[in-house]
Amino acid sequence: MTEHIHTPRSQDPEDVKRRNFIKGLFGGILGILTLSITWPFVSYLIPTSVGGRDEKFIKVPNFSSLPIGIPKKMNFEDVDEEAFLRLNVIYDIWVIKHSEVSATVYSPLCPHLNCRYNWDGKKFSCPCHGSLFSENGKVLGGPAPRPLDTLPYKIEAGELFVQWKLYKAGIPAKIEA
Ligand code: FES
Repeated sequence: MTEHIHTPRSQDPEDVKRRNFIKGLFGGILGILTLSITWPFVSYLIPTSVGGRDEKFIKVPNFSSLPIGIPKKMNFEDVDEEAFLRLNVIYDIWVIKHSEVSATVYSPLCPHLNCRYNWDGKKFSCPCHGSLFSENGKVLGGPAPRPLDTLPYKIEAGELFVQWKLYKAGIPAKIEA
C-alpha cells in the first residue's frame, strides 16, 4: 500500500497573510496584463452605439508636414472613455495627402483577413497571403476580396481628423464590423 506524505502548510497567521498577499499580487498583475493585451480586440466588440466611439473624429498629428502624393503611415492616439479604466489606444492609418485640403485615408488592415500591409514604393503589399493594391486602393493581385478600406476624414485649419472604423474582413462588400 502506497503512503502519501503531505507536508502541512504552515498555519502561522503571518505565513497565511504572506501567502494571501502573494496570491493577490500575482492575480492583480495577471489581470492587468490580460486586460492590456486583450483590450484592443475586446473593445472592438463593444457596441459602438453605447459610447459613439465611431462618431468622433480624432486629430492625426503632423498632417502639414506630409509630402504630397506619397503614402505615409501615420499614428494617432485616442483615450478610450468606454473602458472602465481610461485607456490610451494608438491607432495607425495610411494617408496620401493630395493637397492641403484633400487626402485619402486607408484603414491599415488588409480586407482579406486583417493583416497589416506595407507600401513598397509602388504598391501596397500584404505579407500574410500576398494581396497587392495600387496607390488608389485597387486590388492588383492575391486573395483580397475588395479594395483597401478608406476611412472618413476631415481637414480643418490644415489639421487632419479621422474616424476610426473596422470593416468586416474576407467579403466583397465594405460593411462595418
Ligand atoms: S490578410 Fe492580407 S492577403 Fe490575407
